Amino acid sequence: MAGSLEFPENFLFGTATSSHQIEGGNVYNDWYYWELKNKLPKAGMACNSWRLYGKDIGLMAKLGYNAYRFSVEWSRIQPEIGEWRSEAVKTYVDMLKKLHEHSIEPLVTLHHFTNPIWFIKRGGWEREENIDYFAQFVEKIVEELKEYVRIWITVNEPAVLAYMGWGSGEYPPFKRDAFLYFKVLKHLLMAHAEAYKIIKNADKKFQVGLAKHFTIFQPAKNYFLDKLAADTANGSFNLTVVEALEKGVLPGVFIKKKYKEIRGAYDFWGVNYYTRHIIRFNPLKIMSLFAESLDGRGDEVTDMGWDIYPQGLYEVLIFLKKYKKPIIITENGIATRDDDQRICFIVRHLYEVWRALKENVDVRGYMYWSFIDNYEWTSGFKPRFGLVEVDYVSFERKPRKSAFFYGKIAMNKQIEEDYLRRCLKINQK
Ligand code: FCB
Repeated sequence: MAGSLEFPENFLFGTATSSHQIEGGNVYNDWYYWELKNKLPKAGMACNSWRLYGKDIGLMAKLGYNAYRFSVEWSRIQPEIGEWRSEAVKTYVDMLKKLHEHSIEPLVTLHHFTNPIWFIKRGGWEREENIDYFAQFVEKIVEELKEYVRIWITVNEPAVLAYMGWGSGEYPPFKRDAFLYFKVLKHLLMAHAEAYKIIKNADKKFQVGLAKHFTIFQPAKNYFLDKLAADTANGSFNLTVVEALEKGVLPGVFIKKKYKEIRGAYDFWGVNYYTRHIIRFNPLKIMSLFAESLDGRGDEVTDMGWDIYPQGLYEVLIFLKKYKKPIIITENGIATRDDDQRICFIVRHLYEVWRALKENVDVRGYMYWSFIDNYEWTSGFKPRFGLVEVDYVSFERKPRKSAFFYGKIAMNKQIEEDYLRRCLKINQK
C-alpha cells in the first residue's frame, strides 16, 4: 500500500454520543427507573455533559472535528405527559448554536433507547396507539430546533432496542417474547415513518434517516443448520428493517403487514457498525431463533468481547449500494484501554470506508463512537469508548492520542501512509 488515503473535501468526520450516556441527572426515564431498582448500573451524573457541553463542543472544535451526533432526551423535555420543559429545550438550542459557532454539523437523534417513565407506564412501544405520543414529541421538538438542524436521526437501532428489551431481555423492560420482539420492532419502525413525515413537512430539504445497527452473521461451519441460523438472524435483525424502508413491509412472526407510509421514508442510511457474529445452530436458543453467537473468539476482540472485523463495514456498504441513497456511518468505535489499538481500529475501518468510496458507494460521513468515555448501558462506566478520557470524579476531560490523531484525519481529509502501513498489516493478515 503506497501513498495516503484521501477522502472527499466535504466528508463529515465527527463523533457520536447519546443523552443518557453522557448528560447526567436524567431522572425521568425508564433507565433511571430500573437503575433505582438495581437492575442496571447507575448512570448518575454520567459525564456531567448537561453542564459541561460548552467545554465539550469547544474541545471538538479544537481537535478539528466537523460533525457531532447527539440525542435529545425526550424524558427531560417532557417529564410528565402534559408538561413541556422549555429550559431543557433552551439548553439543546444553546448546544446547537455553539456547534454552529464552531462550524460543526449537528446530527440530532430523537430517540436513543430511553423513554419517559409515563410513556412506559402506558405500555410504551408494545402498544401501537402510543406511537402518537412520540409523534407529538417530534412535532414539538422539530418546531423548536429546526432553525439549527439539517440532519435528523429518528430512532437509534430499532432492532437492537427491540431485541435487547424483548428478545434477550437485557435492556428494560427485560422481557423475552419473540412475538413482542416483532411487535415492538414494528412499532418503532412505524414511529420512524411518522417522524419522517413530520420532519419533512417542516422542511423538505431536511435529511432524515434512522440509525441501523448492521451486524455481519457468518455460519460457524459450512453446515446447513449453521447457515440457516445465520440467515435467519440476518433476516430478523438486518433485513426486516431494510425491507420495511425499501418495500413497505413491516416485520411480524407469521403475518407481515404492508404499511405504505414507511416505503421510501428515508433520505440516507445511518449505519452503526461494530462487529460480526459467528453463528452456530443451537436448538435451545429459542429466543434468538436458534442462533448461538460465538462471540469473542476471533483473532482480536475489544474490551466488550466483540470481534474486530473491519471488512464487515465494507460488506455492509456494498450491500447498501443498490438502494442508491447516501450513507452516513452514524457509529463505529471500540472499547479499549489501549489507545494504539483504538488508532488502528479507526484506520482499519476508515480504510474499508475508503474502499467503498472507490466502488462509488455514496458515503458522506463517519461518526466515531464515542467522543468521550461514557455510561455503556448494561456495562456501566467500565468500557472506555472515548477519544477523550473522562475522570468520573472530577469530570475532567483529557484527549487521548487517538483524539488528536482522528482530528488530523478530519482536518486533512486523509490518512497518512505510515499509519496505513502499521495498521493495515493486521487487515491483510
Ligand atoms: C450502540 C449504541 C450506543 C453505544 C454503542 C457502544 O449499539 O447505539 O448507544 O452503546 O452501541
